[in-house]
Amino acid sequence: MSERVVVLGVTGSIAAYKAADIASRLTKEGIEVHVVMTSAAERFITPLTLQTLSRHEVLTSAAADRPDWRPVHIALADKASLLLIAPASANVLAELAHGLAGHPLAEIALATRAPMLLAPAMNGNMWQHPATQSNIATLKTRGAQFIGPAEGLLACGYEGIGRMAEPVEIVDAALSLLSF
Ligand SMILES: Cc1cc2nc3c(=O)[nH]c(=O)nc-3n(C[C@H](O)[C@H](O)[C@H](O)COP(=O)(O)O)c2cc1C
Repeated sequence: MSERVVVLGVTGSIAAYKAADIASRLTKEGIEVHVVMTSAAERFITPLTLQTLSRHEVLTSAAADRPDWRPVHIALADKASLLLIAPASANVLAELAHGLAGHPLAEIALATRAPMLLAPAMNGNMWQHPATQSNIATLKTRGAQFIGPAEGLLACGYEGIGRMAEPVEIVDAALSLLSF
C-alpha cells in the first residue's frame, strides 16, 4: 500500500483531548500522523502529548518558522493523503469556508489537494446558527466530508447536538477515505 499520511488538525474545543486518542489509533494503524494545532487548541491539550502519540513534531502557530527553505505548511499540504480536523471549531469552519489563511492549519487547508474530513464539536446553538450552517454547506459543495456532531450532554451544560463524533468512528471514517 502507498504511504498513508494524515495531517490531523486540532482546534480550540474542549474535545481537543480526544485528538490524543485519534492520533494514537491512527499511528497504531501504521499511518504517518502529523498534528497541526491552532493557538486556541494549545489551551486545551499540550503539543507534547500529541507529539508523543503521533511520533512526530507538532506544528503550532509559534513553531511555523523552521530553518528549512520549504515552508512546513506547504510540505505538509503536499504530503497529506488526508486532512482530518478533529475537533473542528466553529471558528475554523468559518475560516475554511472563507478561504482565510491566518495560521498553519488554515494555510494547509487551502494548499492541500488531499480530501478533507471534518469532525465538528461545539455548543448546539453555535452549530445550528445560520452562519455555521452556511459555512458547512459551502465546504460540502467543495467536497469536504463531515462526521458528526452527535447528540448528547455537552461540556457547556447543554443537552443536544454538538458533541464531537467518537474517536473510533472518526478513525474508521478516515481509514475508509484513505483506502480510496
Ligand atoms: C472552555 C471552552 C470550550 C470551548 N469549546 C469550544 C467548542 O467545543 N467548539 C468551538 O467551536 N469553540 C469552542 N470554544 C471557543 C473557541 O476556543 C474559540 O472560538 C477559539 O477562538 C477557536 O479558535 P481556533 O478555531 O483557532 O482553534 C471553547 C472555548 C472555551 C473557553
